[in-house]
Amino acid sequence: MKIFVCSICGEVYLGRAMPASCPFCGVTARYLKFAHDWEDVNAGVILSEKSRKNLEEAMQLELSNTAFYFCAADKLTNKEASKMFKGLAKVEREHASIFRKLLKMESASEFKEECPADPADCIEQSYQREVRAVAFYARALTEATEARIREVFEAIMNVEKDHIALDEEMKKKFEK
Ligand SMILES: [Fe+2]
Ligand SMILES: [Fe+2]
Repeated sequence: MKIFVCSICGEVYLGRAMPASCPFCGVTARYLKFAHDWEDVNAGVILSEKSRKNLEEAMQLELSNTAFYFCAADKLTNKEASKMFKGLAKVEREHASIFRKLLKMESASEFKEECPADPADCIEQSYQREVRAVAFYARALTEATEARIREVFEAIMNVEKDHIALDEEMKKKFEK
């Protein structure tokens, strides 16, 4: 068994081999480190006003998406769609927690979101949420002057691009 640490979310994965992506926040394996090589790069980051504002917006966006995805996971009776949304909810919850930690906040208030009862409608709304997220991160990335913040925004933006690809696959399956 080996000990891997994600340099974006800081979570630990114990496994026989390096996974293709972080099982918690979904970033690609290039951000995974062996525990003995890992360093806490968040500690020394001093945030600009702009980045603080963008991190707060990122956290709200992720909390809203988390709530929407948990709603869909609970409401949908289709197994595959429900499990997909449960997986997405956990990833987006991890994203919210990455931003909360960068903002040095102890806790964040929970969100409540409504969701449709039909899988195709949930997938369509998910697609729109993910497109909005990618556009937001692309802008936040150019506005960040701190190397660490740019690194985090870029890594998370690429996870949301993977979510768009997943939604596109699922849209075909659930076409009405
Ligand atoms: Fe996310
Ligand atoms: Fe996402």
